[in-house]
Amino acid sequence: EADIISRLPLRGKKVLITAGPTYEAIDPVRFIGNHSSGKMGFELAKRAANLGAKVILITGVSNEKVNHSLIERIDVVSADDMYNAVHQNFDNVAIAIASAAVADYRPKEVSSVKIKKKDDSLNIELEKTKDILASMGKLKKNQFLVGFALETNNELENAKGKLARKNLDMIVLNSLQDKGAGFKKSTNKITIIDSSENISEFGLKSKVDVAKDIFNEILNRIHE
Ligand code: CTP
Ligand code: CA
Repeated sequence: EADIISRLPLRGKKVLITAGPTYEAIDPVRFIGNHSSGKMGFELAKRAANLGAKVILITGVSNEKVNHSLIERIDVVSADDMYNAVHQNFDNVAIAIASAAVADYRPKEVSSVKIKKKDDSLNIELEKTKDILASMGKLKKNQFLVGFALETNNELENAKGKLARKNLDMIVLNSLQDKGAGFKKSTNKITIIDSSENISEFGLKSKVDVAKDIFNEILNRIHE
């Protein structure tokens, strides 16, 4: 019995995870999106469920599938949809992880009819979306809050900046410098930084194993 419980350290706890891309509508048939597959978020959800947690997986459009009695999947499209779904569920979670690739900008006006081809150039004015992770950082009470950072330069400095600015407990820096890592790939190379500026580097691994590493780091910090 004690052994089973120690293998289910998140039993009875709720974990919220954002995953995948957001799509920001331009008109009824077009959108601004990105190449995020959602894989990392889905692997995190499966790992959390295997540790016994009740998981709320809020995902943008993704081909990933999940079938686990402890995972509730909520499908969203835009950053605004994701923001609303997150705030309907953030209250009583123990851990929240933002792995979604949220659009930073969206069209200021969405055309209700298909935009017709006309002039040689077309300008679409964009406005900032809400920062979902930063909004969780503002509200957080006892939640352990984890963000991701995708950087191409000044990686550590930028990731530390995001950790502080968004009031996070931990940030996962995704290194794009390795060819096997990142969007659409099944592998990732990460560095984890916590709020005491402890830094741990990991090697190139499958996203399944990266999810294990991330939860090991979280468990070490919530149980101390
Ligand atoms: N994020 C979010 N809502 C947004 C933008 C980002 O929740 N509107 C989250 C991402 O899910 C990720 C973290 O914030 O966990 C960092 O995202 P990233 O794009 O690396 O950073 P930004 O703050 O958007 O800054 P920039 O893109 O300029 O580097
Ligand atoms: Ca961004």
